[in-house]
Amino acid sequence: MAANRFNAFQTHGVGIGLRIPHYDHIFSHKPAVDWFEIISENYMVDGGRPLRMLDRIMDQYKVVQHGVSMYFGSSQAPDREHLRRLKTLVRRTRTPWLSDHLCWGSIDGTYSHDLLPLPYTWEAVEKTAARIRLVQDFLEIPVAVENVSSYAAFTDSQMTEWEFLNEVVERADCGILLDVNNIYVSSVNHDFDPIDYVNAIPAERVAQIHIAGHTRYEKYILDTHDHPVIEPVWQLYARAIERCGPTPTLLEWDDLIPTFDEVWAEARKAERYLKPLETPAEHQLLAGVAL
Ligand SMILES: [Fe+2]
Repeated sequence: MAANRFNAFQTHGVGIGLRIPHYDHIFSHKPAVDWFEIISENYMVDGGRPLRMLDRIMDQYKVVQHGVSMYFGSSQAPDREHLRRLKTLVRRTRTPWLSDHLCWGSIDGTYSHDLLPLPYTWEAVEKTAARIRLVQDFLEIPVAVENVSSYAAFTDSQMTEWEFLNEVVERADCGILLDVNNIYVSSVNHDFDPIDYVNAIPAERVAQIHIAGHTRYEKYILDTHDHPVIEPVWQLYARAIERCGPTPTLLEWDDLIPTFDEVWAEARKAERYLKPLETPAEHQLLAGVAL
């Protein structure tokens, strides 16, 4: 297994997304969560309650920043004011890396607020990698790009999604936030084998993994983050851990949010895959589960 310079924690650990409905429980019960993921855009403000709450969280927990509006695949340069505010927050949180999505979502200053899939072309590889490099150089911390769920594809794509991801991260020299639920969702929507995707990932670049639940409809899956993780996604996760080694893992639960204890219990199911394997029998057991 290759050394992973993108795993800045140098440990694995399980986290959950920091959500406002859980604040009271966290402050009163001080649960033993390894780390929280915060949505950067919720805290890119000059002051007020959001930052006061964040500072209280940071008194006790590590936090990692995750963004939803960088749009690495959009054609225009990142907004300078957005980057400046983001860097201010990066310095406040001391996040060990920063993640955002491998997608586009804005054109000529109009923002869709969606994470739209890219055409997997060589031109998009070059332009997307250049934007990631620019952001990474400006923020002065490692950037990890996340694969998105998708519901449409471009006929002029020249490679698979996983080939595209590999080419982008190699040119940008950045990390990967591997979302195994997104891989599963897209594999059903676009009819490919999700194991092929996980097997092709450059394991030494995976900084973090996302797990989540989704909603299945008759002809497609919608990535709703409002259910527990299904068994086929756990199997993809097991394969990812087998390839990448213990990796910081985060459960996303963004809608119909249950109690803190329910979310944390679901996230902790990841620990059965993260525990170092000690005997050949344990390795065989995990390999059997994964494949
Ligand atoms: Fe995700």
